[in-house]
Amino acid sequence: MPQERTAILLCVLAVYITSLVAGVEETQKDECADLNNTTWQEYRQRRIKLQVQYLLMTRKNIDCAQAFSHESLTESSSQQLSYFNMSLPTKVIIHGYRALGSKPSWVKELARALLMVQDVNVLVVDWIYSASFAYNLVVENYKEVALQTSVLINQLEKHGCKLESFHFIGVSLGAHVAGFVGTLFEGKIGRITGLDPAGPMFKTADTFDRLDPSDAQFVDAIHTDSDYFGISIPVGHVDFFLNGGMDQTGCARSRFASIPFLFTVYGYVICDHMRALHVYMSALNGSCPLMGIPCSSYEDFLKGHCMNCDLFKGTCPTIGLSENSGITISPIPKEQKLFLLTTSSTPFCAHHILMVLEVSPLDKSAEVEVTLRAGHLVKEKRLRLQTASTVYRMVLAHPVALCEINSIQLKNTGARFYRQGDIHVKSVCLSEFPSLRREEPLCVNNVHVRRGAPWSHDFVQVCDF
Ligand SMILES: *[C@@H]1O[C@H](CO)[C@@H](O)[C@H](O)[C@H]1NC(C)=O
Ligand SMILES: *[C@@H]1O[C@H](CO)[C@@H](O)[C@H](O)[C@H]1NC(C)=O
Ligand SMILES: *[C@@H]1O[C@H](CO)[C@@H](O)[C@H](O)[C@H]1NC(C)=O
Ligand SMILES: *[C@@H]1O[C@H](CO)[C@@H](O)[C@H](O)[C@H]1NC(C)=O
Repeated sequence: MPQERTAILLCVLAVYITSLVAGVEETQKDECADLNNTTWQEYRQRRIKLQVQYLLMTRKNIDCAQAFSHESLTESSSQQLSYFNMSLPTKVIIHGYRALGSKPSWVKELARALLMVQDVNVLVVDWIYSASFAYNLVVENYKEVALQTSVLINQLEKHGCKLESFHFIGVSLGAHVAGFVGTLFEGKIGRITGLDPAGPMFKTADTFDRLDPSDAQFVDAIHTDSDYFGISIPVGHVDFFLNGGMDQTGCARSRFASIPFLFTVYGYVICDHMRALHVYMSALNGSCPLMGIPCSSYEDFLKGHCMNCDLFKGTCPTIGLSENSGITISPIPKEQKLFLLTTSSTPFCAHHILMVLEVSPLDKSAEVEVTLRAGHLVKEKRLRLQTASTVYRMVLAHPVALCEINSIQLKNTGARFYRQGDIHVKSVCLSEFPSLRREEPLCVNNVHVRRGAPWSHDFVQVCDF
């Protein structure tokens, strides 16, 4: 029974509190605290020992993190005054597995981005010492890290912080650490955001052991590498699957193509996985909305079968800090898959354009190349046409809105071994979604596309935004 297990863990928690209070550590004054790092040599010498430290960043010390512990709150302590402000909400950042023992360089960037948007306390859980090298051993440590973190939260709660004022942001394995903290507090924590929650050893795990919607009042997750380091199943109230959640645009495809350079390979491998974090940080910047559209599968999404957010009364959930991802319906659905396409670099937002192509029946299968142009921005996509069907639906990601597209071009690239005659296009229509207004799609009717003679059409339109 999960409840019994929680009870046992809370007892362990109590023991921890006593043991931690006993060990008072000295922190140096007037020096900025930093995340630790470790090396393979160091790692081999000591048996893995859990060494968790906490860093605090607020608007008063954006560039100089303070070491933080429960003693930082007690006035009797001789340490420097802590910037922690009890009346502000708290963001807790938890990093994940560190293959090479290095400190994660993005932590401070994320903390800064959060502080730009909200006046909050940012606590960083640094568990590099137990998060490095052997993944399976790291997985053994994550609950212990969660337990220690819970002790701290428990202390903060005693000082008057409300559990619902905590928002945990966990990257990869850090998402499950956050999930377990949530379990220990029986889902009373305000929010947990999982940035590509780790997949290996978690996909088949019990919800007790991994992040799930019961861990906080609201749980959102972003999935970007669910075929490799990330988890492929929904773990939150809402789960944003970017570009289907597996392969990200702009990340190298063949993962182990260049084995000789371990670090380079590592960089490639991690690209999809870390995309969730980069998109999240970009979303905090708020330059454009990253909206997810509910759909049962990516295949259906790509065919344009899911084009609205009626499920959420028309408001699409967005990535970022808005309360409950902007969801206003109640109860909030659980494990709702949301899909969106992105571009390959910041700010990542793409416009979803559905193309519906209707052709006259073909004798032989064929291929067309579709090009949408907006000034110098060009988007190309190949489409295979079969003899069996005449209507094709395809969703494209374009960096600009439909109203900014100047032209469409269709090229009959035929088949490889025989001559394909003309393709008679009954209609080709473009529409953008999700759209707030019911706009008529942009259509061109009745065109013959000859082999070797691309057809193109210029749109004359203006954007009214
Ligand atoms: C981690 O770094 C802090 C400085 O931020 C240092 O005081 C502490 O001793 C380091 N911990 C270990 C285990 O080296
Ligand atoms: C991390 O390691 C480098 C060298 O490997 C060292 O110079 C640096 O001081 C270390 N940082 C911390 C916080 O331990
Ligand atoms: C703590 O935050 C509250 C609310 O923003 C603010 O009014 C107060 O001045 C802050 N306290 C300190 C010591 O900065
Ligand atoms: C956020 O915006 C600033 C300024 O517009 C930019 O310099 C920074 O790179 C952006 N950060 C991210 C993560 O997109």
